[in-house]
Amino acid sequence: MLEVRELRHSYGDIDVLVVDALRVDDGAFVSIVGPSGCGKSTLLRIIAGLVAPTAGTIHIDDAPLPTTPGFAGFMPQHDRLLPWRTVRENAVLAADIDGVDRSVSSARADALFERFGLSGFEDAWPRALSGGMRQRVALLRTFLAERDLLLLDEPFGALDAITRRRMHGWLQEVLEADPRSVVFVTHDVDEALVLSDHVFVMSERPGRIVGAIEVPEPRPRPPGIVTSAEFVERKAQVLALLESSDG
Ligand SMILES: Nc1ncnc2c1ncn2[C@@H]1O[C@H](COP(=O)(O)OP(=O)(O)O)[C@@H](O)[C@H]1O
Ligand SMILES: [Mg+2]
Repeated sequence: MLEVRELRHSYGDIDVLVVDALRVDDGAFVSIVGPSGCGKSTLLRIIAGLVAPTAGTIHIDDAPLPTTPGFAGFMPQHDRLLPWRTVRENAVLAADIDGVDRSVSSARADALFERFGLSGFEDAWPRALSGGMRQRVALLRTFLAERDLLLLDEPFGALDAITRRRMHGWLQEVLEADPRSVVFVTHDVDEALVLSDHVFVMSERPGRIVGAIEVPEPRPRPPGIVTSAEFVERKAQVLALLESSDG
């Protein structure tokens, strides 16, 4: 279980983030939605251990967050595939950094290409891939880091609506087969509600959590859930929270 308490962050004298409490239970899928510039990426980078907060604490199972980065799998906002590495070599990057033997990590990756919709592309260069495939390689790389907690920063932000919907079904399948705890940043309210157990809504900068919506339906969820009365009602609640916190 991850717990954020009284977290503050400033860049110089600009306050970016004021998060009093945020909790991610083991195995939970939590989304954070909020307007551009409200501090979502900063929050993820702090949880990832890449940025030291100005104040506050993050606890994992009641112990302070390790001060070394790398306890969580982090997928930054842009896919950051290395153009000089093939798909397979990109997928095993975290394992390389962890010092895992390449024959071991490659075998682990090879077992997952099909599930990630990448079979046949193991030896391709990133430039030969579509946007959706690049995102799947970046996600595969994050999964292969074998951390219990995944931090995903707008992983589908660059995709068209149809590809994005496919990726939602696919991500849910992947998580069903290989469950992790996930903190998922997005500004797409539908996406957050389809994928998550809890949706936290952030205000404009400095980002505060202005509300949380629970989505009790069991995962994985069919795409048609977006037309259900409960879903439409929750979407209205999230939009109202976003509007009420505007400026
Ligand atoms: N390294 C940095 N130095 C100074 N300001 C930054 C830095 N990173 C982000 N910011 C600023 O902090 C605010 C929050 O940024 P960010 O966390 O990227 O927001 P979001 O991901 O919600 O769009 C923005 O105003 C951004 O310009
Ligand atoms: Mg961001």
